[in-house]
Amino acid sequence: MSFKRNILCIGAGYVGGPTMAMIAHKCPQYKVTVVDINPDRIAAWNSDDLPIYEPGLTEIVQSARGRNLFFSTNIEAGIRESEIIFVSVNTPTKTFGAGAGMASDLQYWEKTARQIRQNACSDKIIVEKSTLPVKTAQAMKRILTCKGDDIRFHVLSNPEFLAEGTAIRDLEDPDRVLIGSNETPEGMKARETLVEIYANWVSREKILTSNIWSSELSKLVANAFLAQRISSINAISALCEKTDAEVSEVARAVGMDSRVGNRFLNASVGFGGSCFKKDILNLVYLCRRYDLKEVADYWEGVVKINEYQKERFVLNMLNAMFNSLANKRICLFGFAFKADTGDTRESPAIFVSRQLIEERAKLVITDPKALENAAFDLKDVVEWITFEEDPYRAAMECDAIAVMTEWNLYKDLDYEKVFHSMNKPAFLFDGRNILDHKALFQIGFNVFPIGKPPLTHF
Ligand code: UDX
Ligand code: ADP
Repeated sequence: MSFKRNILCIGAGYVGGPTMAMIAHKCPQYKVTVVDINPDRIAAWNSDDLPIYEPGLTEIVQSARGRNLFFSTNIEAGIRESEIIFVSVNTPTKTFGAGAGMASDLQYWEKTARQIRQNACSDKIIVEKSTLPVKTAQAMKRILTCKGDDIRFHVLSNPEFLAEGTAIRDLEDPDRVLIGSNETPEGMKARETLVEIYANWVSREKILTSNIWSSELSKLVANAFLAQRISSINAISALCEKTDAEVSEVARAVGMDSRVGNRFLNASVGFGGSCFKKDILNLVYLCRRYDLKEVADYWEGVVKINEYQKERFVLNMLNAMFNSLANKRICLFGFAFKADTGDTRESPAIFVSRQLIEERAKLVITDPKALENAAFDLKDVVEWITFEEDPYRAAMECDAIAVMTEWNLYKDLDYEKVFHSMNKPAFLFDGRNILDHKALFQIGFNVFPIGKPPLTHF
């Protein structure tokens, strides 16, 4: 069968996999190939046990796989055959050298650019999907064109705004799709090619076009704004705990102002995920590089409050439990950085676990989807941890439960049964404010929500 276009995506991760599955699902006329250097990952994409958990993803992959969606390790053949190449490799924060702990580590991304240059034998449109520092497209273009032959590369920026756990819904019905390009006739033509792909299912009013630098910067700024809302409400949660105000009531009152809006105002143990911290630190690094110290410090505050919130959570646990956690059994309800994903990158549960182990507590970790990742994240301290899928068994003979992830299943447990199986006094620290605190208190728990007065029996 011949396809109208051949599309390639390099990097079969949380972004590349679902995004390409959606394009293939919506556009049977295109052949979509997803490649990765990791053969295990590709094997998993080709199996019934996909490498990432995302509601609705399996159905979409199954509808298109083998028809017009293919997963492969043959990156070079993929590059040769495709006219449009999405780059969706990981860009973690640098851990070494200049900008360590802040700037993006671009080695995977640069390797990909060189690989594209070496294998391309016809003109290509290159689409940046990974979050990258502003002006990366320019560097990409330089690497691609340095061979001096007459193959032409057009680099576009098309940042991904999907959130894990709701990726399929976000891809199916996005608030907007942003496409940045050079504003030359050739750049505009390449941009139109990409617009046409999305226009198969997204209305044209929602497809925004801009210059390439605005597009790259918009991704960082969108994530910085979202994270800033969470840090703002988390900062207020600390004040609420001192003043008998209730953070959820404050958030409701503030969020009903239509100028503010009610989303991303849930106080929590802290935000996690692969994007927020990384993107803000990227923004901070950029501002510092351009000598904008005040701007850099302003945004860095968002990350600092997030660290403070996680530290505060553990200190509250320590204080509540008579300043000693040694040999106490603490059960973590959830380990993923949010509900409906198995992803644990930057999950606040990692920090909380490590701090509790520093205090010599024994941990029991339960999560419906993230136990494998949790075991990997904590592999150096596993002797302190038991992993248990069943929340009832996990809580048994524990002194405390700490809710780390807002999985719905934790809202519906039989807490009478949980309470009776625990050591007394039994503590419950709700790091997501998802449980019915008064009911838990009546059962006998000592309850410590975020940003609300604790309910204790002593
Ligand atoms: C985010 C952006 O939302 C998305 O647009 C971007 O493409 C990638 O980064 P993601 O990290 O998948 O998506 O999840 P998100 O829903 O934004 O949540 C991030 C973190 O903030 C989670 O740990 C979540 O639990 C936390 N959060 C979210 C809160 O603590 N309170 C809230 O009110 C909302
Ligand atoms: P994201 O959340 O941005 O999608 P992931 O870490 O989930 O990030 O996915 C990135 C993927 O990119 C990984 O599966 C990784 O193996 C792959 N990758 C990294 N470098 C390369 C490369 N040079 N060529 C192909 N794939 C790569």
